[in-house]
Parts: sequence; structure tokens; C-alpha cells
Amino acid sequence: MIQFRTMLLAGVAAMSLAGAATSGSAWAEDIKEVQMLHWWTSGGEAAALNVLKQDLAKEGYAWKDVPVAGGGGEAAMTTLKAMVAAGNPPTASQILGYFALDYAEAGKLGDITELATKQGWDKSIPAALQKFTTTDGKWGAVPVNIHSVNWVWINKAVMEKIGGTEPKTFDDFVALLDKAKAAGVVPLALGGQPWQEATMFDSVVASTGGIDFYKKAFIDLDESALTSDTMKKAFDNLAKLRDYTDPNYAGRDWNLATAMVINGEALVQVMGDWAKGEFNAAKKVAGTDFLCYRFPGTDGAVIYNTDMFAMFDVSADRKAAQLALADATMSPSFQSAFNVVKGSVPARMDVPDTDFDICGKKGIADVKAANAAGNFVGSMAQNYAQPPAIAGAYHDVVTKFFHGEIKSSDDAVKELLAAIDAAK
Ligand code: BGC
Repeated sequence: MIQFRTMLLAGVAAMSLAGAATSGSAWAEDIKEVQMLHWWTSGGEAAALNVLKQDLAKEGYAWKDVPVAGGGGEAAMTTLKAMVAAGNPPTASQILGYFALDYAEAGKLGDITELATKQGWDKSIPAALQKFTTTDGKWGAVPVNIHSVNWVWINKAVMEKIGGTEPKTFDDFVALLDKAKAAGVVPLALGGQPWQEATMFDSVVASTGGIDFYKKAFIDLDESALTSDTMKKAFDNLAKLRDYTDPNYAGRDWNLATAMVINGEALVQVMGDWAKGEFNAAKKVAGTDFLCYRFPGTDGAVIYNTDMFAMFDVSADRKAAQLALADATMSPSFQSAFNVVKGSVPARMDVPDTDFDICGKKGIADVKAANAAGNFVGSMAQNYAQPPAIAGAYHDVVTKFFHGEIKSSDDAVKELLAAIDAAK
């Protein structure tokens, strides 16, 4: 692999040299620096990113950090848009789903197909993800992990104190939250930001209607599913969860909600497995200090969002660093080390689960099983089911409903359909 990279980089250098010779300009040396835009600013996220920085440092690449705080990446995507529009793209950017396809279609991504082909990435990455890393057969992004949103994270000591057991259905979940309420603990740690509420709603929809219903509504945008009684029931179920938050949930960052579960102030958080990165950073152990279950009623399905690094079309002197980043990211040992810390599971299907805790092992097994069964589906909230305009419309309607601006589930389904139609 290393040998191939050396060859590849030599090839790139030769191309640059040829360019310089024909244009008569001075030979520009490779810039030994990776400039990376991301929104990994929480404790767990920063620790995971460090694994990558260290790997690249070993190969002599400096790290130029462009952090843009804000879970879910909304603010980061605004910064990225401005950088690309100014003709100043980063070497790579953390990116989700359809955002990458938009940049690819606009011709803003570079082409790392040669490395991808040589290393056979297409054999180890699920086809569902390759839809987002490649356009017209050209690789323009690399998947660093597979996260999934349909998880619940539970403080084990609190669970024991209230005599709770694993909830298997939505109604069980509500009964468990009632137990916590009766015991005087905050039942549900929530960050009341649109992306967080929408992320939770993905799970509520899959739990309420089943995964086939989720696909019909969010992947196919089937009108009858979007406005069905099942979708109304999903909104009603979401409204039930509102009764279990603490009064200060509005605007709270996701990692502060995770901290409430970590320190026993709250019983449970519904959140993607980046929450586990926070438990890791706090030195909490899966199965001992905390429990991870699939969102009740969604076992067997994985509602995924993958962090990709979009490789921008950078100048020739920055390409060697970009290839080094892509190569490091796709190495099986990195995919294990990084995801152990991040809370996610490897994007490569050929990475052993040996170093993962029980939640990670379950995550890896779940992805394989769901992928084989056709139940590996993109998250609507996280831009893996629909393009950003539609995902944004979804965030708006869900948050308006959750905060009482949309009063009933009847109105919510109407507004959802109208917002989605307007965004198409
Ligand atoms: C990303 C995760 C990140 C989370 C919170 C998600 O959109 O996929 O990597 O940890 O946002 O910032």
C-alpha cells in the first residue's frame, strides 16, 4: 500500500513537473499539509480526530485545522460553501450524504479513483455508501465510518435504581421514562436543536411504522405514506417524548445532553453513536457504566449516516497530501482505531471487531445484518435519505411541531408534505 502511494505520488509529482515545465513557472514543491474542515469539536470527537492527525504526522504531514462547531454540521456546510465559492477549498472536508453529491455534480471534487481501484475499496465498502463516495464511477470522497442514529444510551446505575429493563417497543420506552420520572431523575436528556429533534424523529418513525414504512416515506417520498395515519401516529409519539425532557432542553448541545446521562442526571439519550464517543472520553465502559440498545422497535434496522471526507479539486502541489489523507483514512487499522474512539463502526466491512466494546461489536454485526437484509437505510435528518433542501424542510417541520408551533399531528403531516414539495 505504502509502495503504491509512493508510486502514485511520484506520478502526481511528475504531472506537476510537466505542468510547470510547459507553463515555464517555477517548480512548486508538494505542500506537506492537510487542511481539513470538520465539526468534530466535542471531547469524544476531538479525541477521534487526534488518531488521524497522529497517523498523518507520522508520515510527515502537518495538520491545518478548520473546525466549525455545531453538531450535525449545518454551520460547517455554510463555511465550506463560502470557501469553495472563493476558490479556496480545503484539502478535504467532513461531509454528509447528498452534500457530497452536490459538490461532485458541480465538478468541485478531485478524482482519487486510481488509489480506490488499486486498493479495491469497492469490495470492502457497502454499495449503499458508494452511492455517495462516487459519481459516474469516479471516487471523490472516502467514508471514515458508519454511524447510526437509531440508538438509545442509558446510564446503567440509574437504570438499576429505577428497576428498568430493556424497552422493546415504543410503549415500553414510555413506561421506562415514566419510571425515571417517578424516581425524580430527568427521563430523557435532549438537546432541543432542530437537527437533534429530527435525528430522534428518524427513530420514532421507524419504530412507529417499521422500516419499510420509513423507506416508503423518506426514501421514496411516497405521498400517501407521508400523510398517513402512521405518520400522524409517529408525530403523536414524538409529542409524548416531549413530556420527559427537563425544562432547559431548548438549544442545548448534543454532547451536554450526553453528559447528563454520563453523570446520572438523566436516564437516557436518543442519539447517534457519536454519543458513545463522549462516554469513551469520560472513561465510561459499555455494559458496566452505560447500556446501548437500538431505539425500541427498530432492532434489525440500521438508519445510517456516514462521515465522509470530500476530496476537493485542489492545486497539484496539494494533491500528494490529499492522497495521503485518503490512504490513511481507508487503512483497515486506522478504521478500527478511529472508530473505537469515535463510537461509530468501520465503513470497511473487512475490519475485525476485536478492539471494539460490546456496543461497537453490536454496531458492526447490526450493519452487516441490516445490509444483507436490505434494512440499511439512510438517515433523513442526516442528509442520507434526501438532498439538503428536503432534509432542511424536514428539520423545520419536526422542530416546529416539537416546540408547539405546529399544534397537531394532522397539521404536521400536511406541513411536512407541503415543505417537502416546495423543496423538491
Ligand atoms: C456526524 C458525527 C458527529 C455528530 C455530532 C453527525 O452529523 O456524522 O460525526 O459526531 O454529527 O457533531
